[in-house]
Amino acid sequence: MKTKNLKLAIQKNGRLTEDAISFLRSSGLQFESYKQKLFSSCRNFPMEIVYVRDNDIPGYVRSGAVDLGIVGQNLVNETRPKIKKLLNLRYGYCSLCLAVPKESNIKSIRDLSEKIIATSYPNSTKYFFEKQNIKVNVIEIGGSVEITPILGVAAAIVDLVSTGSTLALSDLRIIEKLYDSEAVLLANPNSTTDLYKSKLIDKLLTRFKGVLSAKNYKYVMMNAKESILPKIKKALPGLKSPTISPLAIPGWISIQSVIKEDFFWETIEKLKKIGASDILVLPVEKLIL
Ligand code: PRP
Repeated sequence: MKTKNLKLAIQKNGRLTEDAISFLRSSGLQFESYKQKLFSSCRNFPMEIVYVRDNDIPGYVRSGAVDLGIVGQNLVNETRPKIKKLLNLRYGYCSLCLAVPKESNIKSIRDLSEKIIATSYPNSTKYFFEKQNIKVNVIEIGGSVEITPILGVAAAIVDLVSTGSTLALSDLRIIEKLYDSEAVLLANPNSTTDLYKSKLIDKLLTRFKGVLSAKNYKYVMMNAKESILPKIKKALPGLKSPTISPLAIPGWISIQSVIKEDFFWETIEKLKKIGASDILVLPVEKLIL
């Protein structure tokens, strides 16, 4: 491992791994498959990717063992390391939830007073109940928290919920959401001020932001009569003005623009109503604003 290179830690094996790898690859970074490896060097960027347990990532970033880390916001909330969050990465969405057995007569958090709560997130759980002024007994469990109510170990659990299938399979129901989470990029403060490393981090951020911005947009091409161009321009909340080129049929033009994902169907319906035809929509790979 070259010492001058940036080091980025990602989860070795778990819920964020595949998405982290594909996010890094879509940012143009080339590196070998991570399976069975401790680290891999990027071929086209001075950076090493280090594969570690996700629980260890905030600590490695804080101590400077690595410059950057990708981790769930849930771990940041739980461990509260004094490090900088550079970016939300918009994948790995999940929520930390309080759940009880479906058949239990617990209706609200107040009914959990003096009861045992099992979780792998003791700090988040204690903080939540303290804020609500409810006294509970929080016990820390390493994994498979969902089994603890069945074993009679706890009255409720606090655990991550993504698709909800683990809760459904364990006959548990949510009574409260503590917070939402997604993958985030963390940085060691010394790395962001180091002359050499901060330049590399800026370059990396430009790439990452390019991928994230592209997710917000779709590229759209359509044909229309030239006479309706003003109406089409009005309907297109694109970046700047659309690109217009003449078609072989007199009086007809081809229009190209980008549409924000948030208004996508609304905009397409408007365009059709105005008279646009042959509408072709393509994904945007990267968008550098
Ligand atoms: C989390 C959580 C649940 C599961 C929920 O575990 O602890 O077991 O995911 O996901 P779902 O709502 O899609 O079923 P994770 O995969 O992070 O691994 P862990 O068991 O090591 O905590």
